[in-house]
Amino acid sequence: MTIKGLKGFKDILPDEVSLWQMLEQKARSIFHRYGFTEIKVPILEKTELFVRTIGENTDIVEKEMYTFEDRNGASITMRPEGTAPVIRAYIENGLNVRSVVQRLYTIGPMFRHERPQKGRLRQFHQLSVEVLGSNSPKIDAEVMAMAWLLLQEIGLMASLEINSLGCPKCRPSFKDALNSFLEGCQEHICDDCRRRSKTNPLRVLDCKSDNCQKQYTAAPSILDHLCKPCEEHFDEVKQGLAQIDIPFSVNSFMVRGLDYYTRTTFELITGDLGAQSAIGAGGRYDGLVRQLGGPDVPGIGFAMGMERLIMLLQQQDDLDIRPQLDLFVVTMGEAAYEKGFGMLQKLRGAGLKVLMDYEGRSMKKQMKQADKNRARYVLILGDDELAKKEAILKNMASGEQVGVTLADDNEEFAETMRSTIS
Ligand code: HAM
Repeated sequence: MTIKGLKGFKDILPDEVSLWQMLEQKARSIFHRYGFTEIKVPILEKTELFVRTIGENTDIVEKEMYTFEDRNGASITMRPEGTAPVIRAYIENGLNVRSVVQRLYTIGPMFRHERPQKGRLRQFHQLSVEVLGSNSPKIDAEVMAMAWLLLQEIGLMASLEINSLGCPKCRPSFKDALNSFLEGCQEHICDDCRRRSKTNPLRVLDCKSDNCQKQYTAAPSILDHLCKPCEEHFDEVKQGLAQIDIPFSVNSFMVRGLDYYTRTTFELITGDLGAQSAIGAGGRYDGLVRQLGGPDVPGIGFAMGMERLIMLLQQQDDLDIRPQLDLFVVTMGEAAYEKGFGMLQKLRGAGLKVLMDYEGRSMKKQMKQADKNRARYVLILGDDELAKKEAILKNMASGEQVGVTLADDNEEFAETMRSTIS
């Protein structure tokens, strides 16, 4: 019996890997342009870290974490997101002492035991970004602009929705208003919302049921309950976005699935992925570092789901970024085969991407192999030509063929090839 992989855990096959590499390279290049540096944090953390940050009454903590006891009986969790581990590392390593504002990013797998479906996996990957140490609304606009630029440079479109969730000073008045509203519509909402209205009332606004959403059109808006400083902050974020030409809309119903957010929250939404429409999301979490025992520094960040970005990239039909081979060496005859093998190491040493056939295939099949590997050039070596120290170099795009002179010294020949074809 063959052993299959776990449900919701996906292999990323060689055909797809070049897209992943392209995405990662683009993301790194853009993050570096905005002054971010990479941090690598562990996949396993103490369970408490996520319970205390994401919140006890969230879906992630209530039902989605991969939590287990290790051999010493400690409760360990496979990270469901990247913000809490980065903040833990920031505090533990005293990164705040090195620079007042830290701009950090991390790229890697996250784990949530959700029901797998299109665009929703149990192991998925995030490009995750955090700025620690700045209160400025300009920073909020800037991180959103950075996500926007990344989408732009990889050729994807999304809409940016923003909201403010207020702060511990003003949110209670909104919660009270929401609670009174929810008391009045208990019979008309789903079981989940009824339960949530007791444990985490803000989350009801995120319910997917059309029926519940109909009820909530009359719900109070958080934006009517913001205190003066939160209102000013939100106004400046909107001004900042407008100033740098980032289009957005305000969605006062956006509450997010993690409890640590304060003030600005945002989501990047696409219409091209079915139900899993959020390709990225984030927001401010001003009290979180302190709550975890660190200094009183504000923070903001976002994460983008890499699988969702890759799916969108795959929907573009003109996209072909599979790697190209520089040269495929086609050989006919024993002497040519040996000469070819001798050359290969030197050609690679000269920096060229080169392959040849070791299975004794016909010339036609070797040409096909060259094509399959997207070789830019083919070097055709035959025993007769070899005796005359000649070979044929074919440009696969134009079909043009030229004769080339072989050298006894393979290293010298490799250098000539490199300057001819690169
Ligand atoms: P999040 O909204 O939970 O936020 O996740 C961010 C993104 O990760 C989502 O918009 C989605 O693209 C992707 N994602 C989430 N769950 C899955 C899944 N099961 N399968 C595939 N993709 C998924 C956070 O994780 C926050 N830590 C973001 C943040 C950073 N906030 C501040 N800093």
